[in-house]
Amino acid sequence: MESPKKKVKELSATAAAHGFDDFDHSNFYSGSSDDAFCMLDPMDEWWGTRAYGAGYYQFGLPMQTAPLPTVDIRETLGNEVLKNLVNFSSYNYLGLSYRPEVIEAAVEATRKYGLGASGSPVLSGTMELHEELAEKLAKFKRKETALLFSTGYSVNLGVISGLMRPGDTVITDQYSHASVVDGIILSKARVSFFRHNKIDDLEKKLKRATGKKLVVVEGVYSMDGDLPVLPEIVDLCKRYDARIMIDEAHSAFIFGENGRGVAEHFGLEDEIDIHMGTFSKSLGGIGGFVAGSFKLTNYLRAFARSRVFSCALPPGVTAGISKALDIAIDEPELRKRLWENVHFAQNKLREAGVDIGDSESQVIPVMIRDDKHIFSYAEQLIHEGVYLNPVRFPAVGKHRSRFRISISAGHTNEQLERGCDILINVMQRHGLCR
Ligand SMILES: Cc1ncc(COP(=O)(O)O)c(C=O)c1O
Repeated sequence: MESPKKKVKELSATAAAHGFDDFDHSNFYSGSSDDAFCMLDPMDEWWGTRAYGAGYYQFGLPMQTAPLPTVDIRETLGNEVLKNLVNFSSYNYLGLSYRPEVIEAAVEATRKYGLGASGSPVLSGTMELHEELAEKLAKFKRKETALLFSTGYSVNLGVISGLMRPGDTVITDQYSHASVVDGIILSKARVSFFRHNKIDDLEKKLKRATGKKLVVVEGVYSMDGDLPVLPEIVDLCKRYDARIMIDEAHSAFIFGENGRGVAEHFGLEDEIDIHMGTFSKSLGGIGGFVAGSFKLTNYLRAFARSRVFSCALPPGVTAGISKALDIAIDEPELRKRLWENVHFAQNKLREAGVDIGDSESQVIPVMIRDDKHIFSYAEQLIHEGVYLNPVRFPAVGKHRSRFRISISAGHTNEQLERGCDILINVMQRHGLCR
């Protein structure tokens, strides 16, 4: 049996010979012995001696401020605090996480109800606050009911595995989020991926599907910022008697005339069977929901195990989300400002020859396609005044590495201009503009 040390030496040699792009977390997925810890030493050795020094430390840099339009962070390699960086890395699309009214609502509910819900939503964890938020959401989404979950991840896990069984087929876009994929794995249904937004391929997969059929798409694809070709997808689902679920994690509360999401944007709200969204992005908190018919949520109340066997949302978060939802509804000017900011940033980057793919949203991929150097570019950007996240394999395919930037309604013109200028400068310096 190969020893872990030998394995890491081999991997290091591979990395040295072929460059850093051949060497990442996936090398440590399985180990070389029967000890459940056999991957730990090689990973640790790689992390400490190679990855950290090569810039992997740029993931999860501790912030010293709220996720505001500008942030202070601690860069952990040099242990240096970098101040006033333009924040292009937050999901806080409407800037609601730091709104005083939202904070006040969360503080007040925490004072009244304490820290946690102290129970599953199906047992003792449900408070009036949860009921009120669920009702408000259902009304907002124009659906019969909504069911709250403690994360967006657990919505996808619970809904997909709650409905689908071995012998059934879940068909999803190849770029669907890990939570969709994990929900399918948990359901033990057959999984079928169709090529991103390729309608012919979806039809091929629908023809081959067995058992009950569920198609899952995203409102905004989280790494590319583009939208699903929803009218064609809905049409195909009808023709092949498949149910359709939309994950509006990145589109809920900002897309559509009233902020009801991409389903509203396309005028297809009534054609979608299952509407899913998160509170962790545009509403600035944590948690998620599914909205649909009474019958759907009644069934999921019993069969969505990620909800049944997990604690309900904390009261402070629930009250904060409720207030954030009120603001999102009452202040449409926030969405207007967001879209002005998005168009400004997209136009500026495209005009400078930066490849931002097919982004149609506040999620903008800045394509680098160089798995080896992306961390050193990220390091330069952080030091020059922009905080953004490098994304590479396995989060995206090999040689599809990019910075995923996100724009907020909270960014001022000056901040947007400054952030884009710094980004364009670094891209030009490295010959990365077209
Ligand atoms: C498309 C998509 N679905 C679901 C989730 C999970 O949501 P949460 O982070 O709220 O658990 C994410 C998170 O980024 C996402 O991008």
